Amino acid sequence: MKAVVYDRYGDPDVLRLDDVPKPSPIAGQVLVKVAATSINLSDWECLRGAPFYARIGGLRTPKRRILGSDIAGRIEAVGAGVTRFQPGDEVYGDNLQLMGGFAEYAVAPESTLAPKPAELTFADASTIPQAGAIALQGTARAAEGRRMLINGGGGGSGSFAIQLAKRLGAHVTGVDNGGKLEFMRSLGADEVIDYRRDDFTRGHEPYDFILDLVAHRSVFACRRALAPGGRYRCVGGSVRALLRVLTIGAAAGRATGRRIGVLIVKQGPAHFEPLADRCLAGEVNIHIDRTFGLNNLPEALAHVGEGRALGKVVVTPR
Ligand SMILES: NC(=O)c1ccc[n+]([C@@H]2O[C@H](COP(=O)([O-])OP(=O)(O)OC[C@H]3O[C@@H](n4cnc5c(N)ncnc54)[C@H](OP(=O)(O)O)[C@@H]3O)[C@@H](O)[C@H]2O)c1
Repeated sequence: MKAVVYDRYGDPDVLRLDDVPKPSPIAGQVLVKVAATSINLSDWECLRGAPFYARIGGLRTPKRRILGSDIAGRIEAVGAGVTRFQPGDEVYGDNLQLMGGFAEYAVAPESTLAPKPAELTFADASTIPQAGAIALQGTARAAEGRRMLINGGGGGSGSFAIQLAKRLGAHVTGVDNGGKLEFMRSLGADEVIDYRRDDFTRGHEPYDFILDLVAHRSVFACRRALAPGGRYRCVGGSVRALLRVLTIGAAAGRATGRRIGVLIVKQGPAHFEPLADRCLAGEVNIHIDRTFGLNNLPEALAHVGEGRALGKVVVTPR
């Protein structure tokens, strides 16, 4: 089968389209004929081997040769003990442990997959699992009259998070680069901030909740941006930034009646299917910036990793 593989961490030019053996599902796994895979920042991080946590399991060379975790497709074969699916079923899910979605076929544990709603295209469904779980859990406390800031709001998770927080009645501020301000407004953001020109931690009314998708700021700056009783949660960023949040940030927050911490995102169908329901109900829109073929994967990954994508980017193998 055709797959895009890589053998060392680096820029997109370390990727190459290759012929590799079709994988076989072992017990508890299914073989999926991939129809669409969406790109997440985690694919870019695993390509580059940075932040450092992207090297877990593969310190010097990548643990998985084929990236791509958010897959949608049709079940081709099932391994022993699989009870929820049979060949022909249409599924989608976040295969973060095994990856392999940038290929014609991928194996995935059945527990990571959900039946694809017939009303969603494969491309639409592939945008939901990882970004949807992050956005749902990251906005769970948004509420009427509360001020919420989403740092990195113009990307994959952010584009869902802005819409969810708005539906919960929050006053939403989106922060991203200048090319994404109009996009964030179109998603419903009440205020937008260009992080290259303005500092959300200074000169702005404080926030009740901050969801930080790209933690780069010092914990003291984040604390400054929080209202008394406010809560800051980051889901990504450098290892240094995350460790600081967990240690100094947690203590500094507690000392001033604020909560500063890392959001460990729960994965699996129970955590992303509610977003598909909201998309089907017309409450949340899916924004696919561009769709690439497997042969253009380096360009597609760079489009996301270099911050040009508005919302999600999808790769289709055929
Ligand atoms: N905690 C967990 O359990 C867990 C699980 C899965 C994934 N994750 C993490 O969750 C994050 C999800 O990201 P995603 O897929 O939504 O990424 P994405 O689509 O790439 O969006 C990130 C956005 O942030 C912007 N950005 C970059 N630097 C910024 C800065 N200093 N200030 C404000 N905005 C900035 C980017 O644009 P520019 O680059 O152009 O500025 C981009 O628009 C990733 O970091 C991933 O590793 C966490």
